[in-house]
Amino acid sequence: SKKMRVSDALACKETGSDVRIQGWVRSVRPQKDNLFLHLNDGSSLQPLQVVASSQLNTRDLTFGCAVDITGTLEKSPNKRQNVELQAQSIKVVGECNPMDFPFKIKERHPLEYIRQFPHLRCRTNAFSSMLRIRSEATAAIQSFFRDHGYVQIHTPVITSNDCEGAGELFQVEPTGDKKDSDDPHFFSVPAYLTVSGQLHLEVMAGAFSAVYTFGPTFRAENSQSRRHLAEFYMVEAEIAFTESLDDLMKVMEDLFKAATEHVFSNCTEDVELFHKHVAPGHREQVDPMLNRKFNVISYTEAIDILKSSSQNFTFSPEWGRDLQTEHEKFLVKHCGNTPVFVVNYPYELKPFYARDNQDHPRHTAAAVDLLVPGVGELCGGSLREERLQLLTQRLSQAGLEDTYAWYLQLREFGSVPHGGFGMGFERYLQCILGLNNIKDAIPFARFSHSCQL
Ligand code: 4AD
Ligand code: MG
Repeated sequence: SKKMRVSDALACKETGSDVRIQGWVRSVRPQKDNLFLHLNDGSSLQPLQVVASSQLNTRDLTFGCAVDITGTLEKSPNKRQNVELQAQSIKVVGECNPMDFPFKIKERHPLEYIRQFPHLRCRTNAFSSMLRIRSEATAAIQSFFRDHGYVQIHTPVITSNDCEGAGELFQVEPTGDKKDSDDPHFFSVPAYLTVSGQLHLEVMAGAFSAVYTFGPTFRAENSQSRRHLAEFYMVEAEIAFTESLDDLMKVMEDLFKAATEHVFSNCTEDVELFHKHVAPGHREQVDPMLNRKFNVISYTEAIDILKSSSQNFTFSPEWGRDLQTEHEKFLVKHCGNTPVFVVNYPYELKPFYARDNQDHPRHTAAAVDLLVPGVGELCGGSLREERLQLLTQRLSQAGLEDTYAWYLQLREFGSVPHGGFGMGFERYLQCILGLNNIKDAIPFARFSHSCQL
C-alpha cells in the first residue's frame, strides 16, 4: 500500500484506497467493538481518525507512541472529518509510557509548561502549530522579496564588524588546542557572531539595487525579557536609490501585511489554535492592522505625546533619550492599538551609518522604528549616510575611520542614496499570534543562562 501523509489523507476525495501512514498517537478511545485513535504526523493540526477493530492487538497503543498503520481510507460517519482509516494492521514502532511522558492526553498545557521540555515540546499541538506557521511565514517572506525583484544574499555569520556599536557581541575563537600561540586571534583580528547583516547588504545593494537576507543574528543581551533572545532570526532589506523614509516604510508595511495575509490564509487551523485558545480575541486585534494604513509620527511628536500624558513612567521621557518599552507601549495604545512608525530620532542616539537630517531644526537622523501592539519595536531601519565627507567626519570622531575604510570606499565608488531595515522574525510571530513570550516563537530558544540542547 501507498505511503501517505496525514494531511493528504484528510484531503483525499477518493475513498477505498489502501494506504500506509506513520506517525504519533494523539489520543486513544477504546469503545465496545473498536478502538479509535487520533494520528498525527506533523503535516497538519487536524489528526487522522483511525478505527481499529478489537481483533487487532492494541495493547501498546498509548498517547505519544509511534505507529505504522496500514488500512483503507473510508468515508467517515463523523462530521468533523471526510475520511477515516480502517486499520488492517497496526505496528507500534516506538512505545511511550504515558506515566512518564510529560504531556497528558487531552490536556491543553500552558506554553510555559511545555517550554521546560525543549526536546519534546514539538509533540504538542500548540508548539507544532507555531512551527508550521513559522515555516510558512518564512516562505511568505521569501516570496515577498522575490516577487519584488530582490536578490537574496547570505550574509556571513562570523564577522569582524560591530554594525550596531551597542557592545552586545559574542566573540568567536577556537577552543583550547586549536589556538595558535603566536596569534591570539584565529582570524588575526577579533571576530564575532553577527549582530546584523546590514553592512554586508549595503555592499551588495551597491550592485544589485535591492537585496535582502534572512538569517540567524546574535546579541549578548543580558535581559530576561519576554522579547529578547541571544539568537534570533532577522529579516533585513537594503535598497539603493532610496531617498526617503516613506519608501522604506512602504516596504515594511507591505511586507508585514503580505506575509500575515499569506499565513492567515494558508495556515488557517494552526492560526486559529492561537487566536482561540492561546490568545483569545487576538484576531480582532490583528485584522485592523491589515486593513488600515500604519500611523507615522516623528520622535519629537512622540516625546510630546509622552510628556503630556498623565501616565507615571519609570523612565521619564526626554528629548534625546531612547524610547523605553513602556513608552513604546503607550505610543501604540495612543495610536488606537495599531502599528506606528516613529521617524527622525536624535542623531546622537543612532549608529554611525544613520543619515544626518541636516535641514531639521533639532539634530536628527533619518531613522525609523516600527512599533506594534503587544511587542513594541518590531523593525528598525534608516537611510544610510551616503555622503563621503559627512560619513568620514562621523567615523573619525568615533576613531573608526580605519576600521571602516572599506565602508567609506563604498561612498567613493558609485555611491547612491540608500536605506534599509531589519525585522525581528520571532517578534513578528509574537505579534501576529499573540504570543506573550518570544521563547515560544523559536524552535530552540537561547537566552542568558540558558542554552539547552
Ligand atoms: O533595531 P535593530 O538593532 O536594527 C538593526 O540591527 C539594523 N542594522 C537593521 C537594518 O537596518 N538592517 O534590530 C532590528 C530588529 C529589532 O527591531 C527587533 O525586532 C529585532 O531586530 N531584535 C531582536 N529580536 C529578538 N531578540 C533580540 N535580542 C533582538 N534584538 C533586535
Ligand atoms: Mg532598534
